[in-house]
Amino acid sequence: MNFKVTDNVTYIGVDDKTLDLFESQYEVPDGMAYNSYVVKDEKIAVMDSVDARKTYEWLDNLAKALDGAAPDYFVVQHVEPDHSGSLKAVCEKYADMKVVGNAKTFSMLGQFFDLDLTGRTVVVKDGEELSLGKTSLKFYTAPMVHWPEVMMTYYAADKLLFAADAFGKFGTLDAEDDEGWACEARRYYFNIVGKYGAQVQAVLKKLSACEIAVICPLHGPVLNENIGYYVDKYNTWSSYEPEDKGVTIAFASIHGNTAAAARRFKEILESKGAEKVSLFDLSRDDMAEAIEDAFRYDRLVLMAASYDAGVFPPMLMFANKLVAKGYKNRKIAIVENGSWAPSAARTLKPIIEQLKDITLAEPVVTIKSSLKESDIPNLEKLADELVK
Ligand SMILES: Cc1cc2nc3c(=O)[nH]c(=O)nc-3n(C[C@H](O)[C@H](O)[C@H](O)COP(=O)(O)O)c2cc1C
Ligand SMILES: [Fe+2]
Ligand SMILES: [Fe+2]
Repeated sequence: MNFKVTDNVTYIGVDDKTLDLFESQYEVPDGMAYNSYVVKDEKIAVMDSVDARKTYEWLDNLAKALDGAAPDYFVVQHVEPDHSGSLKAVCEKYADMKVVGNAKTFSMLGQFFDLDLTGRTVVVKDGEELSLGKTSLKFYTAPMVHWPEVMMTYYAADKLLFAADAFGKFGTLDAEDDEGWACEARRYYFNIVGKYGAQVQAVLKKLSACEIAVICPLHGPVLNENIGYYVDKYNTWSSYEPEDKGVTIAFASIHGNTAAAARRFKEILESKGAEKVSLFDLSRDDMAEAIEDAFRYDRLVLMAASYDAGVFPPMLMFANKLVAKGYKNRKIAIVENGSWAPSAARTLKPIIEQLKDITLAEPVVTIKSSLKESDIPNLEKLADELVK
């Protein structure tokens, strides 16, 4: 699908509607867009390619946008295969085209692809510009947003930022998104980039001198109004500040009793005035949504059945994901369930202790097999601690 972003910039990305899981783990009910752009001045630059699943559709889009011309430069902002998967094909098709990247780009490209770029590379450094004639592209390295070689590109002529994976979201461009940009952009951010908040902060700071009217990310829609809103969201997310007040309950239940306790605990929290309580069954719901809400809200409740002297595996996976994504600066409560020797809490505690700036809410509540009325006072106490 091609469309004009500005007079000089054309969108040439593709929608992938049949992908089962993005990065082999994220559900994409609305598919995924791999974005790519052409910048036309006296010289022509192509910004990134698309996943190998869509090479031919993308090459067609590119040919249409070029309208008989040949591209001079291909800019690799990110080597990950969802963006470089069609690089070899485009390099073969346009033999005079130079490939622009930084030093890390080229060492990593060689690891992924059998590609001879001898005499065709343009190595750029942070802050360096590439003239296209009257206008130019300026490169800003953005290490670890999301990989070490990532760079963003500022096109001052149009006050336009090519933002690599930043400001992206799940879903194709034509997907109806009633929830608005933030919902799927937040799920994308925390699951994919979440660990690298400090690096996102660093690049936002670096870019603060650039006036930005348009953001062209590598996934999701082109953003061309209300830029402050999107930058604010990224500022909040990357600083690990909770975005909203609320409680996320994530539970892992084998036979349904911990699930019933979780539903009851939700009611108790709501009756005590919790602003928002969101509930996730870690065995069945999208775990990436649970991660998203855990980061979105300021309090998190982990409720889990004990399992083989440990914790039921869906919870183990969730807790380890919190560690992997650098979860911090929140209050966490634990409710465990066990039938003979409850072990969920003592398994979860050392994992949570790896997280920074976490307060463990007291008491840790233990349920024996199923929730009894005699357990309610303990849950009430924990709820009071969470809503106070
Ligand atoms: C494979 C398996 C292993 C279990 N291991 C333990 C255990 O080590 N300690 C314990 O107290 N309960 C153990 N349980 C019991 C569960 O914790 C029990 O299902 C739970 O207390 C009831 O909650 P639920 O209905 O949410 O699953 C185990 C259950 C299963 C099926
Ligand atoms: Fe990426
Ligand atoms: Fe990507």
